[in-house]
Amino acid sequence: MGNLALVTGATSGIGRAFAERLAAGGYDLVVVGRRRDRLAEFVAAHPEVKVKTVAADLSTTAGIEAVAEICATEPLTMLVNNAGVAHYMPLAQLPADKAAELVNVKVLAPTMLSRAVVAGMRERGQGTIINVAGMIAFSGPAPHSQMPRRAVYAGSLAYLVAISQTLSAELEGTGINVQVVCPGVVATEFHERQGLDMSRVPRMTADEVVTASLRGLELGEIVCAPGVEDAGLLDAVFQANLAAFGAQSPELATRYRAV
Ligand SMILES: NC(=O)c1ccc[n+]([C@@H]2O[C@H](COP(=O)([O-])OP(=O)(O)OC[C@H]3O[C@@H](n4cnc5c(N)ncnc54)[C@H](OP(=O)(O)O)[C@@H]3O)[C@@H](O)[C@H]2O)c1
Repeated sequence: MGNLALVTGATSGIGRAFAERLAAGGYDLVVVGRRRDRLAEFVAAHPEVKVKTVAADLSTTAGIEAVAEICATEPLTMLVNNAGVAHYMPLAQLPADKAAELVNVKVLAPTMLSRAVVAGMRERGQGTIINVAGMIAFSGPAPHSQMPRRAVYAGSLAYLVAISQTLSAELEGTGINVQVVCPGVVATEFHERQGLDMSRVPRMTADEVVTASLRGLELGEIVCAPGVEDAGLLDAVFQANLAAFGAQSPELATRYRAV
């Protein structure tokens, strides 16, 4: 049986680049997005592989359930949870429906699709789950003035890092690889769709992000940071996380005790 990948957000940018690259590598594909014209365009451009299109809105329960059903029933060798929006805005000004959309697309959908795909991958003894997050996952401590307002978006990306690391550990020895990709700024439609002009900011291409992800899998990376030259920096972050985690005790730390 050949390889079959499902890519969410395959209608533009990084997801489209993943779908293109996987098609070039002989993968059959399930491509997911809301823009039906783009999905049809992808099929027409790739007669060399089998492509199933799924027009689904991953901010809705129905959309997530429809795609999860495919993840549970099709023999996927790869799932790429890529669809996303950022909605950069101060939290109090972020409309409730946009906050819910963001969390559904970037947190709930990847969770439910991964959950649905794992059992079959386990049975088949192989599979790859790629979650597309971003370096903003690590931006929590950045000074207020340097970054766009991003609490929910940053939180959603940090969730993807944490679930990818823990799921990877959970699935050790099953033949399933889990990776989270953390690009910096990438030249896609992502920012312009939010009315932001990033054309003057140096940006990586979506294709380079895919190259890093696929090479990162070969290198055994769970966290892939395409634009970070020194991978040791990430290792240092995670070692520091573990050191803090391991340093906890049931006793109240001295600094919190009444003086
Ligand atoms: N561009 C960057 O600088 C950058 C940096 C770091 C991380 N990322 C991450 O990369 C991922 C891909 O973004 P991109 O840069 O390639 O942007 P993009 O060109 O805007 O692509 C976003 C994709 O997500 C899909 N999508 C959005 N909302 C959806 C929904 N409700 N249901 C289904 N699909 C939905 C879009 O498809 P439809 O509109 O057809 O539904 C589109 O295919 C995002 O998750 C983002 O967090 C981007």
